[in-house]
Amino acid sequence: MIHSAVVPVAGYGTRLLPATKSQPKEMLPVARKPVVQYVVEELVSNGVEQILFITGRSKTSIENHFDDDPELFRTLTETDKQDLLKELDFEALKANFFYTRQRQQKGLGDAILCAENFAGEKPFVVALGDSIIGLNARSRSLSRMAEVFEDRRASCVIAVEEVPPGETSHYGIVQPADGGDGVFRVINLVEKPSPKEAPSNLAIAGRYVFSPVIFDMIRRVKPDHRGEIQLTNAIQFLCEEGRRVVAVKLPRDEKRYDIGNFPSYFESFVEFALADPVYGPEFRRVLERLLGRAAATS
Ligand code: G1P
Repeated sequence: MIHSAVVPVAGYGTRLLPATKSQPKEMLPVARKPVVQYVVEELVSNGVEQILFITGRSKTSIENHFDDDPELFRTLTETDKQDLLKELDFEALKANFFYTRQRQQKGLGDAILCAENFAGEKPFVVALGDSIIGLNARSRSLSRMAEVFEDRRASCVIAVEEVPPGETSHYGIVQPADGGDGVFRVINLVEKPSPKEAPSNLAIAGRYVFSPVIFDMIRRVKPDHRGEIQLTNAIQFLCEEGRRVVAVKLPRDEKRYDIGNFPSYFESFVEFALADPVYGPEFRRVLERLLGRAAATS
């Protein structure tokens, strides 16, 4: 079991403007909850107890979300709104929250480097704050990745998923040592390759387990053409050193919901809203009516 996790949330979220002009993309709602609440619930249900957010300017609402709000609590209690009070149960999640700022936007690798003191000598999880794994974040993949990390004495375990070959330029892509099914060793990685340069269609899916040796590798990475230190390049150095980098393919029922761009944000919202136990059935009827109307007029 791994007890510490790092959640980078410092990015500007430019692909989601204007929605993200003054609020973090990690606070956008997917059905009833903000994205980052699903991420934290997934971490806690997989045994994580310490969570460090790597934040930036205009990200304070994330801190507020995980803090108690005595005034709201009092108002809801005084007006006997028990059902709404229940919605704040997540405030009692058994996790300690820590926050530090990445002072300049120098890429994901640089953000993770801010966690060096927090991680100390122990392995840790990295969970990207704009990705939900599995419907309602009921994923066991992180526990599985932690087991693989120990069993294989790996330096890094990465969650991967298949993407359409034409979309490799949006992701870090891994090169498997063999077939690339289930759990497999990775021999190389490329950040956002064109479909022609991509070594496979297996994309890094926003969850990692690292040994602290990753920090030395990050320090070796040179900034790319945008001045960013890529985490993928640091993992590539692990491969070059002959250290074990292992990928775990996400199971079919634990796909990744990417809240980093509008098409996939819309899709995630609709899928989660349809699965809502209270509002889902009515929403389905509304959607069917809207689609029926659209089909009739086209
Ligand atoms: C980051 C990583 C990339 C990974 C992706 C998953 O890219 O650099 O390797 O595949 O997250 O969401 P970003 O989306 O921050 O550009």
